[in-house]
Amino acid sequence: MRVLFTTAMAGLAIAVTSCENNQSALKPFRNVSANMLIGTAVDPEALASDAPYAELLARQYNIVVPENALKFEITEPEPGRFDFADADRVIDFAEAHRMAIRGHVLVYQWQSEWVRNNYVDQYDNAGPGTYGAKDVKAILDRHIETVMGRYKGKIKYWDVVDEVICDPVGTNNVDRSSIDTILQHSFWYKAFKILQAHGDVSEDFVSYSFRKAHSVDPDCKLFLNDYGIEGYNGWGEKSLAARALVQMLLAHGVPINGVGLQMHQTPDNDPSVTDNLAGNIQAWKKMGLEVQITECDVKIPPPRQFGQDMAQKELQEQARTYYNLVKTARDNGASAFLTWGFTDRYSWITWKYPGFGAALPFDEYLKPKPAAYAIEAALSGEPFANDK
Ligand code: XIL
Repeated sequence: MRVLFTTAMAGLAIAVTSCENNQSALKPFRNVSANMLIGTAVDPEALASDAPYAELLARQYNIVVPENALKFEITEPEPGRFDFADADRVIDFAEAHRMAIRGHVLVYQWQSEWVRNNYVDQYDNAGPGTYGAKDVKAILDRHIETVMGRYKGKIKYWDVVDEVICDPVGTNNVDRSSIDTILQHSFWYKAFKILQAHGDVSEDFVSYSFRKAHSVDPDCKLFLNDYGIEGYNGWGEKSLAARALVQMLLAHGVPINGVGLQMHQTPDNDPSVTDNLAGNIQAWKKMGLEVQITECDVKIPPPRQFGQDMAQKELQEQARTYYNLVKTARDNGASAFLTWGFTDRYSWITWKYPGFGAALPFDEYLKPKPAAYAIEAALSGEPFANDK
């Protein structure tokens, strides 16, 4: 397999699936994508230990996002102790290969366990090892200043907040009447409600975080990122809640530049087919927002025998979905399209969604799957070819 991969690296014809006759060399995505950055989430350990992984990454893509390395639990594993080893590895690699960088994420209620698990819902005087509202604000300020400040001028796009919008419950849509009913009541939210009541801050944690981020790096494009907001209506009209939220932020002069649509999908849940992804992108653009597809993967069951005989029908459906999503993003002016990893060798899907796997465009041997050829075709403005 290493031989095949090396061959691909040399840009020679490769024959990598059972349909050998129809295979041609896969062109670097970065060379065929004119107006949209094309990228992937990156795992710093793989980058350090797996040379073919790093080569394929550099060959194909022109934007990266560290998958976990910029999250709170990695950058600040203990209060005030910062660790940038993982993030630096990804960012140095990206700079060396002239790739743009997305930062993910400054304010997230997950993967920030030492704060979340020790938050107490009171203004101040929290006991040792616990954090009240005033402490939470100090933690947030220091975190944004330190992490964003370190990469100022290097990271062009930051997810300031991720997954802050309520999920629809049962058959109910999210109540869009106010910011308080749109936002999830995370510890960040609760702390800032208390601070607002005490007059320490004038706004919710989302508005505050965007303003803070803007003050640290005024040239960085600041994004709100979420799932379930990919289609025009979204999951239970969650997209309508997202647009209502951002309208409120804009009305208050909050410096927000873009929205990230995560795009963790399946072939039978393709928002370009079922929920007007094009109209959604256009609606955001009409509001003056930049749109990026930030975490795309298309889950299918794993190969029947891992590493052999992938089910052709499933791979074709997956390819068609990738084609549709990339084409819709490109045709409607999304500024970047990123997948959540690029090889099934490293993917969160395997452990997160039992019964699924193989969600990415390259297989576990780094061979291009039909999805990779579909992405190439969509980026090149070519029709979808069923035989690849
Ligand atoms: C996931 C990572 O891929 C995993 O490795 C980690 O254990 C959990 O988080 N939405 C997001 C991402 O915004 O940050 C998540 O990443 C996937 C869902």
